[in-house]
Amino acid sequence: MRQKKNIALISGSLRKDSYNTKILRNFEKEFINHGYNCTFIDLNEYPIPFFNSDIESSGTPVNVTFIKNLIKSSSGLVVSSPEYNGEISAVLKNCLDWLSRKGPNEIPKETFIGLKSIGISVSTGKNAAKRALERLTVLLKRLGVDEDIITYNLGNLSNNFFNEDNILLDNKELDTINNIIKIYSDSITNINKADNIIKIKAS
Ligand SMILES: Cc1cc2nc3c(=O)[nH]c(=O)nc-3n(C[C@H](O)[C@H](O)[C@H](O)COP(=O)(O)O)c2cc1C
Repeated sequence: MRQKKNIALISGSLRKDSYNTKILRNFEKEFINHGYNCTFIDLNEYPIPFFNSDIESSGTPVNVTFIKNLIKSSSGLVVSSPEYNGEISAVLKNCLDWLSRKGPNEIPKETFIGLKSIGISVSTGKNAAKRALERLTVLLKRLGVDEDIITYNLGNLSNNFFNEDNILLDNKELDTINNIIKIYSDSITNINKADNIIKIKAS
């Protein structure tokens, strides 16, 4: 059952100093300031094998089950991805592929139905990771999240954008993140409707 105040955040970069992870941490901090309970998934800490139905037939990996249950108890999903050759990262795609699989007692797309989501992609490049962000939003919609995905992207990133605690130094960007969280909070009122959809489809 989705809890209005629960947010799951997943970084699609494994890099220790990842800008996508740092930006996602800034979202997490602001969500916490707005009274939300956040769980941050660093995929280094939740390794998942490449999807293979042979592995699946012998049991879903525990880290997939953990992330799936986390998302099913959340009202919001915030995902960030690097742009690699115009696409999202392979590690994130693999994670989402596993999460898309229907469990024995689940209805199709149950993990994602009604989930309010925020897609993020930031890059060192001048195109501000627009292509990866577009891919990410198409994929999230296909998985079944609420159609109105909120997006955030930023380019030309470097370590100069952050202080030693990885907080963004640019007040304009911090304001943008704050506004996104306000938009998120206003839109989450429909979460009970989403739970009803799941109940109706399940019966
Ligand atoms: C294989 C590879 C492909 C990349 N392709 C793109 C690209 O298409 N567009 C872009 O803006 N940046 C591209 N980059 C740069 C990454 O977006 C940049 O390194 C970014 O900081 C990675 O995200 P992270 O800091 O969260 O790890 C590429 C980097 C790698 C390693």
